[in-house]
Amino acid sequence: MLIRHPRGWEIPEQAATPETVALGRRRLLAGVAALGLASPAARAETPASLTPDPRFPPGRPLTPEKDAETYNNYYEFSDDKDLWEDAKILPLRPWAIAVDGLVAKPKTFAIDEILMKMPQEERIYRHRCVEAWAMTVPWTGFPLRALLAEVEPLGSAKYVVFQTASLPKFMPGLQQPWYPWPYVEGLAIDEAENDLAFVATGLYGKPLPPQNGGPIRLVVPWKYGFKSAKSLIKITLSEKRPAVFWQSIQPREYGFWANVNPDVPHPRWSQASERLLGSNERVPTQIYNGYGAFVASLYADRMKEPLFM
Ligand code: MTE
Repeated sequence: MLIRHPRGWEIPEQAATPETVALGRRRLLAGVAALGLASPAARAETPASLTPDPRFPPGRPLTPEKDAETYNNYYEFSDDKDLWEDAKILPLRPWAIAVDGLVAKPKTFAIDEILMKMPQEERIYRHRCVEAWAMTVPWTGFPLRALLAEVEPLGSAKYVVFQTASLPKFMPGLQQPWYPWPYVEGLAIDEAENDLAFVATGLYGKPLPPQNGGPIRLVVPWKYGFKSAKSLIKITLSEKRPAVFWQSIQPREYGFWANVNPDVPHPRWSQASERLLGSNERVPTQIYNGYGAFVASLYADRMKEPLFM
């Protein structure tokens, strides 16, 4: 039986976020050096010369880096948004990610091996949180499809399950017993193999900081942000649809598909518009977060599913 506790993004974000507090804190912290890693592999994470993929024009200004990196959802650390300093204790090396399940060649990759092996590119994506805030940021990384190809998925694989790090020594949020840890997310295999589905290892041309899911996270920009699981440790191909984190907690409010749609309100707030981090401008929300040309066809045969919650 679920005990209800106030959780950050179970309430509309306008109410959830004491913005003045966050801004004051940011000012106090101005000048604190950003995360920097010096190894050759870390440099491979930060290819300064990459040009953003022109297929995905962002259509709005980039979010200031400081805003994207100091206003985060990462419940393993906290249900407050200003967790970025606390998250810095997460050790990003050594780090490994297993890719297993219904594949011909299961493999555990060390993070530096992934960085050396996978072709790095930059994508500027819009990101839309279910709480109705949004940002526009340059991720560095590679298509999820390229990583899956390394392990050769079997024809019986229908879903891709993402498991994220659960490290009680560093993550105080794990002590909250009402959450079904670890944070697990999932995609259907055709979603995972879509051009847009991306694995990020960098942000703003630098290694991905822990608060944004370093050293490696999923980015699925046509879905609400909770699908984009942070700090991945395992990717499993499965025949079965996984039980996913927020749906397990509140199935009437959060679904498996979670595609962005301005016309389908959250049971407790509208999804018609979103607040841009940084400028605080309110702009209309777009169906599939504006990426319908790339992904709408994935859902043609799934119209009976609750695609937008
Ligand atoms: N991944 C893990 N492991 N834990 C989380 O709490 N929060 C999700 C998603 N991935 C979350 C997570 C939510 S609700 C959002 S909106 C995005 O991460 C936020 O990503 P950002 O902090 O980089 O903006």
